[in-house]
Amino acid sequence: MKKLILSVLMMAAAGSAMATGNAEAGKNKAAQCSACHGADGNSPAAMFPKLAGQHEKYIIKQLNDVKKKPENDGRSIPEMAGIVPGLSDQDIADIAAYYSAQTIKGETVKADLKDKGEAVYRGGSLKKGTPACTGCHGPSGKGNKGAGYPALAGQHAAYIEKQLKAFRLGADEPKAQGARVNDGDSRIMRDVTSGMTDYEIRAVASFISGLR
Ligand code: HEC
Ligand code: HEC
Repeated sequence: MKKLILSVLMMAAAGSAMATGNAEAGKNKAAQCSACHGADGNSPAAMFPKLAGQHEKYIIKQLNDVKKKPENDGRSIPEMAGIVPGLSDQDIADIAAYYSAQTIKGETVKADLKDKGEAVYRGGSLKKGTPACTGCHGPSGKGNKGAGYPALAGQHAAYIEKQLKAFRLGADEPKAQGARVNDGDSRIMRDVTSGMTDYEIRAVASFISGLR
């Protein structure tokens, strides 16, 4: 039944202008990514993001952002700069289909950060103008498939923390090394993070890593 639903969804996606991904073909093409991201998209090391279960649209956008290079409003990921330029639109679509069909393995939230993290995630901060994360990333962190807002649930806390700080740095000092400043989508996150403290970032990152 799941397979049937999946193929209906894939047929629906075929109507769009993008190349349609084939998860089977994507599995082989993703072999070159597995050293860092894990064979099934569950990366063993916290500095490499998990890709398992991530929305295809988001994966495709990030790979195209890396392809564009930082000088053209692309996203800078030096570790991937040698690989991504060689991927065709079809390769990218296939790899995205493969990873999005995998299941993410979650982490455990740190007990001392849970309450603070949950408060930030669900409530934001009125005083500082931080919006709740639930609005875009969903109450259980599954993101928004149609809009391409990334799923966050179960991601490595260290990776999330690094990204939130990279967005915040971009709000403060856009030209700084390590700022994530590439375009309008990341501008949303620069606005979200600009008033956040290190403690809020650490807490919400830990909370998210434990979401299912
Ligand atoms: C040498 C290690 C390495 C290899 C190989 C690698 N990546 Fe990455 N990838 C990274 C790192 C590191 C990041 C996160 C960079 C950061 O912290 O901003 C990343 C980020 C990503 C992201 C963004 C994820 C997100 O949540 O925003 C995607 C998508 C991605 N990689 C896909 C791939 C694909 C597909 C391949 C193979 C074609 C690949 N990567 C190969 C290291 C690697
Ligand atoms: C108005 C919508 C919106 C809100 C609210 C929002 N986000 Fe985001 N978030 C986005 C979008 C869009 C992206 C993708 C940016 C891109 O494509 O570069 C994103 C990306 C991220 C990423 C990077 C994910 C990755 O895999 O690299 C993290 C982490 C994140 N958001 C955490 C949060 C947290 C924590 C909050 C609450 C404090 C929050 N977001 C609130 C829209 C939102």
